[in-house]
Amino acid sequence: MGQIRFTASLVIIATILVGCKPDKPPAPQTKLKNGSQATAAVYRSPLAVAVCPDGKTLYVSDRTAGCVTILNAASGEHIRNVKIGGEPGGLALSRNGKTLYVAQRKANSIALLDTARQVVTGHIPVGPWPVAVALAKNSNRLYSCNRGNHSVSVVDLAAGKEIKQIAVVRDPAFAVVTPDESRVVVANFMPAGAATDPNPASEISILDTKAMRQIARVKLPRGSTMARGLWVSPNGKWAYAVHLLGQFDLPVTQVEQGWVHTTALTIIDLTKPMPLATVLLDDLTNGAADPWAVVGSRDGKTLWISHRGVHEVSRLDIGHIHELLEGKIPAELAKIKDAQRDNIWVRIKKDKRQIAELARDLTALHISKTLARTPSGGKGPTGITLSPNENKLYVANYYDASVGVLDTAGGKLLNTISVGPQPQACSIRRGEIYFHDATRCYQRWHSCASCHLDQGRIDALPWDFMRDGIDNGKDVISLVHMHHTPPHNRRATRPDPRTCMKTGVLGSHMMPPAESEVDDLLAYVKSLRPEPNPNLLQFAPAAKRGKVIFEGKGNCSRCHPKPWFTDNKTYDVGTASKGDPDGKYDTPSLIEAYRTAPYLHDGRAATIKDALTKFDPKGLHGNLKALTPKEIEDLIAYVLSL
Ligand code: HEC
Ligand code: HEC
Repeated sequence: MGQIRFTASLVIIATILVGCKPDKPPAPQTKLKNGSQATAAVYRSPLAVAVCPDGKTLYVSDRTAGCVTILNAASGEHIRNVKIGGEPGGLALSRNGKTLYVAQRKANSIALLDTARQVVTGHIPVGPWPVAVALAKNSNRLYSCNRGNHSVSVVDLAAGKEIKQIAVVRDPAFAVVTPDESRVVVANFMPAGAATDPNPASEISILDTKAMRQIARVKLPRGSTMARGLWVSPNGKWAYAVHLLGQFDLPVTQVEQGWVHTTALTIIDLTKPMPLATVLLDDLTNGAADPWAVVGSRDGKTLWISHRGVHEVSRLDIGHIHELLEGKIPAELAKIKDAQRDNIWVRIKKDKRQIAELARDLTALHISKTLARTPSGGKGPTGITLSPNENKLYVANYYDASVGVLDTAGGKLLNTISVGPQPQACSIRRGEIYFHDATRCYQRWHSCASCHLDQGRIDALPWDFMRDGIDNGKDVISLVHMHHTPPHNRRATRPDPRTCMKTGVLGSHMMPPAESEVDDLLAYVKSLRPEPNPNLLQFAPAAKRGKVIFEGKGNCSRCHPKPWFTDNKTYDVGTASKGDPDGKYDTPSLIEAYRTAPYLHDGRAATIKDALTKFDPKGLHGNLKALTPKEIEDLIAYVLSL
């Protein structure tokens, strides 16, 4: 195992916890006889679930409790919590089931859990912020999605070390290795590039495992975000990606019938590679918001999808959908009319170009009876996995400390297994649950987290809300530190955080919140903390020089002063959009600017450099004219370090 760092046996003993350590706030701890610790109040947040090859044991990663919980799959008995450092996320089990690989986002490494001894035996360092792992079992490689630097690490498991980082598009969130192990298919969570580009959308990266590089980028339909769930068919021909589809340039006057958001599955033909079709997973009046994961059966005919926002799981008859796309339409279905005309499947049979219409058709899967949704047994279903004999589907319910067990034949919930006691939610946690709950939205089309992805941050799309007129989209604003930076919204339309939050709920969900719920949302948003740029070290000297320029001759501190990097005032810095006649915008905070691209009120700037140079032709935005190209680079390095 070469370079894997083996932990001392004492540490190993300490990692077998009866209760896991909390991340925040620290709870009182009790020493137990074996030197491990039990804690009083720790929220449980099951995120990913894996099942061992004999089907007897479940492994559940828990993000806030910081552990992998081991459960008896049949009896539901809680066997053990194994402590995992640095925010455990994605899981992968070796073929023989002896090693569980656990992504540790904050530790920039993969933990190796010995499933027989139930201890962590080593760590493999990878790129920053690994959130998901995928195994290539024959070639003995492991791939990790590193959101911190938009790369995928290739780990040689025999040597026990990372051998390459492959650059992908943006925020890789999930990866699947094709059955022949020649490709890795990667879902990039958020769109890259400017929000004013013709087709802002998340992309799927295709990596060649031999050449160890990205060989293709497949764009999902315009307005796609939250691309995470991914599965590849057993014959290696199809990749299935689940994601949101945002109609960001329609004014947000109603959310009904998918006016703002729909939930989609895109089928990608890996042999080309190109999208074949995008189908919608919602009902006409009942959204299926915030898809998280997708897995399929060994025969490739059935897909299962978790919908975090609506606490449900979908079962999709993908085999039949492929037949319909090939024009094999049962007589019963062919008879169904769409008002006066043929239904969508018949139209596609007559004219292949009609396939594009599927991405707008909320009836297609319902008239063909290829989709069924069912409760997941708890709030916030995330990771899912099938039992080895495929008669059960296990679902991690993030907010409910449970794993839902579904019967795959009937598609119904059989029971739920507890991963441990869940303390009563405090205001922050209640706010977090509301924020991620699309059932708080009229007809369940989206949650706050559908646009403010990643704990209150952004989705990189310019939405056209009514608060400042129409036809003038505004790039989503990160909510980190928002309570320190009133007034709110790009046009400073709301004076204080509370009013902003309340109108925010009404404007996006079309359902009024209770006063106590506004308090909870505020408590949650106030609890959000910036995370240091994971690539800080790389450009530290340049950032140091840039700081001097920022505070000196660049004249940036005038409007972006410490500590929040905004003076809370509005200015015209030469960026006026047609719909905003005076061109005045709220000075944005620059904290976490490294992860909030694109920039400026409508997201027209893909990079900080573009914001400061290309989009400031009149020289109104700071004193850029006084700087040399090298000084501008240093200045940018500093902004990226905030
Ligand atoms: C459809 C996408 C979308 C949804 C859903 C959404 N937001 Fe927003 N949010 C935005 C955009 C876009 C902005 C910037 C609007 C502007 O500048 O006019 C914003 C701005 C905000 C702001 C102001 C931030 C600041 O500092 O100026 C708050 C607070 C906020 N949203 C909270 C929420 C909450 C709470 C929810 C859920 C009830 C929510 N949002 C749902 C897109 C969305
Ligand atoms: C006169 C006040 C003022 C000065 C001086 C100023 N800015 Fe700004 N800055 C703004 C305003 C206002 C915006 C928002 C413009 C928009 O949304 O179109 C902005 C936006 C930005 C953004 C985009 C942030 C985002 O999230 O969209 C960056 C980066 C930035 N400024 C950096 C700088 C730097 C670096 C300097 C110094 C060279 C500087 N600013 C000087 C007022 C100022």
